[in-house]
Formats: sequence, C-alpha cells, structure tokens
Amino acid sequence: MKAQENKTGLPLVQLGITRPEELTGLFADLRGSFDNDCACAHDESAWKVFRDRWLGRKSGVLTQVTDNWLKPATPVLKRVVGQKLNELRAHVESQIEARRAAIESGAEEAALTRERVDLSLPGVIRPIGSHHLIRQVLQEVEDIFFSIGFSIVEGPEIETPYYNFEALNIPEFHPVRDDMDTFYLDLPKGVPAPLLLRTHTSPMQIRTMEKQKPPVRVIVPGKVYRRDNPDATHSFMFHQVEGLAVDTDITFCDFTGTIEYFVKQFFGPGVKTRFRPSYFPFTEPSVEFDVSCIFCGGSGAAAGGGVCSKCKGAGWIELFGAGMVDPAVYGFVNYDAKKVSGFAFGMGIDRLAMLKYGIDDIQAFFQNDVRFLKQFP
Ligand code: DAH
Repeated sequence: MKAQENKTGLPLVQLGITRPEELTGLFADLRGSFDNDCACAHDESAWKVFRDRWLGRKSGVLTQVTDNWLKPATPVLKRVVGQKLNELRAHVESQIEARRAAIESGAEEAALTRERVDLSLPGVIRPIGSHHLIRQVLQEVEDIFFSIGFSIVEGPEIETPYYNFEALNIPEFHPVRDDMDTFYLDLPKGVPAPLLLRTHTSPMQIRTMEKQKPPVRVIVPGKVYRRDNPDATHSFMFHQVEGLAVDTDITFCDFTGTIEYFVKQFFGPGVKTRFRPSYFPFTEPSVEFDVSCIFCGGSGAAAGGGVCSKCKGAGWIELFGAGMVDPAVYGFVNYDAKKVSGFAFGMGIDRLAMLKYGIDDIQAFFQNDVRFLKQFP
C-alpha cells in the first residue's frame, strides 16, 4: 500500500510513464493493493478507515489518481487513464459496499470465528523414536573400547577378494572360504577385479595397517553378509565389531586382559570368562572366547529344574573368535613380523544383543515390528 500511495502522489511523467500500454500494469497493481486492503477490513471501524483511504474526497486514493494522474496527463494518455480510473472506481465502490454488507450481516464475524486458531486444542503429538537395539549395543561396545584407547574406523561393505580373503591369509581354495560363502556382484564387462559383499569386518585390519604404522588400536563396527538361510540364529546380513591392536610389545596377556575387561563391562562384573583353542587363518594362536552363561549364572541348570535351555547345561556360552595376529598377515602390509605383535577379535553384535537382552530370534531385529522395537527405548 505504501508504494502505491507514493505513486498516486506523483504525476505520470514523474513515474516515467509516457505510453498508454504502461498504464495496464500500474492500474493492476493499484487494484491488487485495494483487494489486499479490503480483505483486512474485518469490522466496522476498520471498514470506515479503509473506505476513507480509498474514497475520501480530499485525499482518498481515487481522488489522488484523478488529481495527479488524470488531470495533468498528456492527451495521448488521458483517454486511457480516464477509462481505467472508471473501471477501478466501479470495482472499489462495489467491493466497499459488499464488504459493508458482509460485516453488517455478521458473515465476516462468522468467518473470523471459523478461521480463528484455537490455542487450547491439543497439538499433534509426534512420537519420538529411539535407536534400534543393534545401534544401542554397538554404541555400548564402542564406548567400552573407546574408554581404553581404541579408536573407531569404518570400511566398505563391498570388498575385493584380496582384502576379504587373501591378505588375511586365506588363499583361493582355502576351505574356510566355504564357511563364508557370500554374494559376488554382477559387474559390467571390463571391470577388472571381482567384488563381493564382505563376509566379515576383518578386511579393515588390512586397510588400517596399510594406512598407518604401529601402534594400532582400532575397532571396526559394520554390516557383513553371508549366503545363509534365515532362521533364529542366521541372517544373510548381520553386524560385527572387529578389533585390532598391534604394537612392538603386545603379549597374550594384554589380549586376554583387554577381552576380559570388555566382557565384564558389557555383561557385568559377575561373569566368568574362558578361552578355548580354535582356528582362524589370520590368527595364531586362535581362540574362541566363552562367557559363563548369563541366564543360569554358569550352573547349567534351569530355575524350574532341568538344564538351562540357553547353554544346554554347559554353563558356558560361546561369544566370539579372536587370537594373536598371524605373522603372515604382517607380510601383506609391510610390517616387520619380527618387531611387532598384536591381537585381533571379531564379535557378532546381533549375538551380543541377543544374549544380553534374552532375545531368541535374530530375525526380530530386521522385521521392524514396533511392538518389539518399543521394548528397547
Ligand atoms: N572374521 C571372523 C568371522 O567372521 C571373526 C574373527 C575371528 C575375527 C578371529 C578376528 C579374529 O579378528 O581374530 O568369523
């Protein structure tokens, strides 16, 4: 409105208007600001001010248009200004009258009441989500290792056979490849190396050691893939946390001490741990780490009699694989196997979560049933 007011206060020459065509936009703008103004006149007193602003005899907008635009207009413009002014006047008068009628009949008030925002109405409540249990457990594991000086690295889920197998001392035709039967990618012709979905997070051991010299202390959380048929304990995609520590003087005691610290932090100080000999191509010696059964307290007996169904009466539950890094692995990353030593481990996060929270079907993690997810806010 302000700009229009200023414009109607000036003769057309000063507005730079010399040709009749230029009047169309000028009048359209004026009509637009009238319509805006009209929509704001909701009650009688506002309507009066509005009416005077446009129709006031002395200084109403239409009077200004007559005095400043019409009267001093050049003969070329005068005829068109007159015509446009008449059209505008007809519109202004009819709308002002219509507005008055609306206010008087109460229609305006009704419309206002209808449109008024009722601040006392309850708002739209958007439920706040929470992290998925897997993410929560991952976070917990990360926090524990972080607190003892490990850093967190992540790596690609699509790997080359070199990183997933060869550099981990698993040559082609090594039988352990069968256990990790996985998904190879269909690649366009001309792509040199085969690519696969990583079967474990261990390839990041190699990628990390390639990038940095010892000391190395990292954990690697992430998704891994295997061609497993889904059942209560198998899924074609699951989560692991790999761990690797390499330095000049790391011993088997550092290894067991670190793992034991982790397990007690994670399951509570009451659990007992043990390890058994095992085999992995990239560790020597290799172990399988067990924890005393968290369900029966290690007794192997169920509370109501009989054997504990979780540990099948053994009193122990297998947790994860680990070991001292096989010197052959150092050969792939140009570490001097005579000078460095270290340990590595790889744990299934889904399995840890199932044990800690008593979940007996891994599929529950991936079905996205809110009734399940809600139990772990
Ligand atoms: N990569 C092994 C698997 O997926 C787990 C593993 C075992 C990782 C021993 C390690 C390790 O780093 O030392 O079955």
